[in-house]
Amino acid sequence: MRKIVILTGAGISAESGLGTFRAEGGLWAQHRIEDVATPEGFARDPKLVMEFYNARRAQAAEAAPNEGHRALARLEQDFDGEVVVVTQNVDDLHEKAGSRKVMHMHGALKSALCATCDHRWPAPLVMAPGDACPACERPTARPDIVWFGEMPYDMDEIFEHLAGADLFASIGTSGNVYPAAGFVAEARRSGARTVEFNIEPSLVGSQFDDIRIGSASQTLPRWVEELLAR
Ligand code: APR
Repeated sequence: MRKIVILTGAGISAESGLGTFRAEGGLWAQHRIEDVATPEGFARDPKLVMEFYNARRAQAAEAAPNEGHRALARLEQDFDGEVVVVTQNVDDLHEKAGSRKVMHMHGALKSALCATCDHRWPAPLVMAPGDACPACERPTARPDIVWFGEMPYDMDEIFEHLAGADLFASIGTSGNVYPAAGFVAEARRSGARTVEFNIEPSLVGSQFDDIRIGSASQTLPRWVEELLAR
């Protein structure tokens, strides 16, 4: 087995204290997506949107990776092959745990983006409407987050990884949002074995060869030990 592609969602960061989106009381119960996670919402009320991401950026800055993140970093380090993490999460807990090959398909809280010239730079903890871009100096800084209706990042590279995967694991994602929810079908087309890790089957759970029910901080260390013992 030479290549493992791993998709993660908010569930892997739940035990690090970062809220998920669609659970009871989750982020989308507290805020309307159209207000804080769309280009239209940002145009309508940039202050509300900046404050939403400032709060999440501060929380993520304080958060520590859990045993689930650490297990994936160990897998990348010790596995005799390639391990690629494709995350829908915008926190940096995979990197804090030591993972190096991490693709943030929905962007990252630690990054800022210029809406005029596409320049990216490390985001300050607090961003405000009208912040200037350090490259073009226009007052058009925005969170480097992929909002609903925008194209996720690095899709060509992600599909190349899926085409070459021997094993595809999906961890802590509800399967509500495409294209990520379609990755399991892509992996199956490439002949990969597929496994889902969640506290309950996701909307696409039936498409996996194997489902491991439980908290990621419990199920992932065991899974990694099994893989490394092979
Ligand atoms: N261990 C494993 N899975 C867990 C845990 C845990 N400890 N806690 C929760 N989960 C699972 C839930 O059962 C659920 O299936 O994590 C999933 C979280 O689902 P969502 O809240 O929908 O988050 P996610 O799937 O990452 O959302 C995808 O939607 O709003 C957009 O861009 C946003 O990236 C996000 C995307």
